[in-house]
Amino acid sequence: MKGVVFTTFLDMVEKTWNLDMVDTIIENSELESGGAYTSVGTYDHTEAVALVSALSKATDIGVDTLLQTFGKHLFGVLIDGHPEFAAGVEHPLDFLEGVERYIHVEVRKLYPDAELPKFECDRKSDDELIMIYSSGRHLEDLCEGLIEGCLKFFKRQAQLSRSTLPDTREQFTISLVSDDR
Ligand code: HEM
Repeated sequence: MKGVVFTTFLDMVEKTWNLDMVDTIIENSELESGGAYTSVGTYDHTEAVALVSALSKATDIGVDTLLQTFGKHLFGVLIDGHPEFAAGVEHPLDFLEGVERYIHVEVRKLYPDAELPKFECDRKSDDELIMIYSSGRHLEDLCEGLIEGCLKFFKRQAQLSRSTLPDTREQFTISLVSDDR
């Protein structure tokens, strides 16, 4: 997993709690990297799982909630780093459809070792999109947070529902709430 995910996560922990919390979760996670991440490095994704579990234990907040909150925050950081991906895109569902077709394709060119999920999209209407997520890393909660971060970025509200398909892929249905602008 790319270092930017780790540096953004530890930054969020420091801002939401403090540096002591960062030290505590690093100490409690038995990390091969020792917790020294650079944004361009690549690290075992199990280190991220260990850090989130340690934060969950230390704060008594569920791993699912922490991953969703982190995903929402991470979207803001990713788009700040790559504003070109949103250039000219006005509709959040157009953007989300573009994650598989365009954004992650470009990400793969920038970082050939990135471990990216797969999305199958079905645009039901202008205001409704079904996105089926699959990844061996099963970061469904992070994915939900990233979708929420995207909606926030485009200043749109939506009903977001999720269900696990029999083959363990996760189906997200995003229905935009009408916009009276
Ligand atoms: C500016 C937009 C985006 C950029 C630049 C971006 C880039 C990235 C990068 C660099 C990673 C890390 C890969 C690794 O650790 O090896 C990643 C992972 C991921 N991305 Fe994106 N992404 C963007 C938007 C999104 C959106 C909107 C979604 C959700 C629909 C999404 C879903 C995910 C998920 C779930 C992962 C974790 C890997 C996994 O599940 O296997 N991304 N992305």
